[in-house]
Amino acid sequence: MREPIDLAERLARFSEHWSPKVVARLNDYEIKVVKLDGEFVWHDHAETDELFLVIEGTLTIRLRDPDERAVTLGPGGLHVVPRGVEHCPVAEGEVSAMLIEPAGTVNTGEAGGELTATPDDSLLDPSDADG
Ligand code: NI
Repeated sequence: MREPIDLAERLARFSEHWSPKVVARLNDYEIKVVKLDGEFVWHDHAETDELFLVIEGTLTIRLRDPDERAVTLGPGGLHVVPRGVEHCPVAEGEVSAMLIEPAGTVNTGEAGGELTATPDDSLLDPSDADG
C-alpha cells in the first residue's frame, strides 16, 4: 500500500536550491518539490506547460507574455506557465514550491547553463511505489 507523502518532511531532506526532486508520479507526469533562492535564468519549455505551487515564501515569476509581465505567489499561490512562454522565477529569500510537469522536463528548458538540474532526480521511497 502507498503511504501518504509529507511534503514538509521531503523538503527537510535537502538544502540545495534550483534542484527539483520527484516525490510522486501521476501518469506520465512528476510531482516535484524544489527550494529556490534568488533569480533563476530566463527559459521556456517548448513542449509543455509548467505548474508552480508555492508552499513557503514569496515567488515572482517574470513572464515574456504580452498580457502578463509577472505574477507574484505567496503560500498556496498557484500559477501555470503556458508552453513556449519565456519565464524567469525570482525568489525573495528562500522559497519552497511544488512543480508538476511531464517526466524528463529540464528545469532550464532550452536555455541550459550551470543551473540545469538532473531531470527526474528523486526523493521517492520504496513505500511510495505500488507494493
Ligand atoms: Ni520553467
